[in-house]
Amino acid sequence: MKFDLKGKDAQSKARAGVVTTDHGKIETPIFMPVGTVGTVKGVHQTELKEQINPDIILGNTYHLYLRPKTDILKQAGGLHKFMNWDRPILTDSGGYQVYSLSGRRKIKEEGVKFKSHIDGSYHFFSPEYAMDIQRDIGGDIIMAFDECTPYPCDYNYAKRSMHMTHRWLKRCITHLEKTPMTYDYNQTFFPIVQGSTYTDLRKQSAEFIASVEAEGNAIGGLSVGEPAEEMYEMTDVVCSILPEDKPRYLMGVGTPINILENIALGVDMFDCVMPTRNARNGMLFTAHGSINIKNKKWENDFSPIDEMGITEVDTYYSKAYLRHLFAAKELLGKQIATIHNLGFYMWLVREARKHILAGDFLVWKNKMVNQMSNRL
Ligand code: GUN
Repeated sequence: MKFDLKGKDAQSKARAGVVTTDHGKIETPIFMPVGTVGTVKGVHQTELKEQINPDIILGNTYHLYLRPKTDILKQAGGLHKFMNWDRPILTDSGGYQVYSLSGRRKIKEEGVKFKSHIDGSYHFFSPEYAMDIQRDIGGDIIMAFDECTPYPCDYNYAKRSMHMTHRWLKRCITHLEKTPMTYDYNQTFFPIVQGSTYTDLRKQSAEFIASVEAEGNAIGGLSVGEPAEEMYEMTDVVCSILPEDKPRYLMGVGTPINILENIALGVDMFDCVMPTRNARNGMLFTAHGSINIKNKKWENDFSPIDEMGITEVDTYYSKAYLRHLFAAKELLGKQIATIHNLGFYMWLVREARKHILAGDFLVWKNKMVNQMSNRL
């Protein structure tokens, strides 16, 4: 993997770059649509490519390990071939999904024992096993196995957990160094900064993560319920320590506003279920604010879903029609809303990139944050 910085904003810490992988280039800042189980929910692969056109999507180790199972993915020749997606894929390690299973998991130094949400069976992930599984899934970027702490988090717990995540990181690296790749293309490993909302822990973690000199770095444990201002403070501290010449990935973030604010702090990569999950609940994001398409006020609004939208559905269908589909609980409603929201997120990060390169990012960002705060 290679990362080339193409431009830096003079008034903020925003950057524009290009990540090159064996499955193609990723222009940053980037938003990665989440394809948890090998599908960006409700979106057919050709629509994803032609309408939304992301440079990279995300898959989840925890889900893919449980279903269809690693063995099937290996037989298919990896996730790219299995789902017929020839662009880059990033896989999360399972650290976050296992964290989400609170009550159904036990964390120890050796690893995490957890209960499947599908059939209640017990499984065990160690840092080593999480690497083996990610080798077999075959993502272009694979993530360290970490513990994502909840919010709020007791200082002593956060500190102990961060140190364990650091020890797990060493185990991931040692294991990757002594095991072969499953397929014939490169996989790049990203370690993850933790430390909850404590500045001293975040600094310590960022320094440790920077010291392993990986090709890219991630920031975890944020957007777990803390106020946005605290998230921005943590991102700022961490970005000031992580190396400039490597991509920075903020995991699980966030709203369109969170994304722009974090781009301004020096983050290059994002993923979040928000555009897809909220779409399925009838919430649409636009440049002028968010829309609850289920509201009665859209019943006879025959204007396009989003005049400025980049996908076909945005002008092909009206708000009234989409509202009707939601009211009638039709599958197509969720599909249209998902395509719209992902198209909007892609537009937003591409536009951010253009403004960084043009030198007027900060003015544009502030205008957008203001506009996007509206509820239409
Ligand atoms: N996704 C969102 N936050 C996190 C995190 O802290 N760790 C991992 N592995 N994935 C995440």
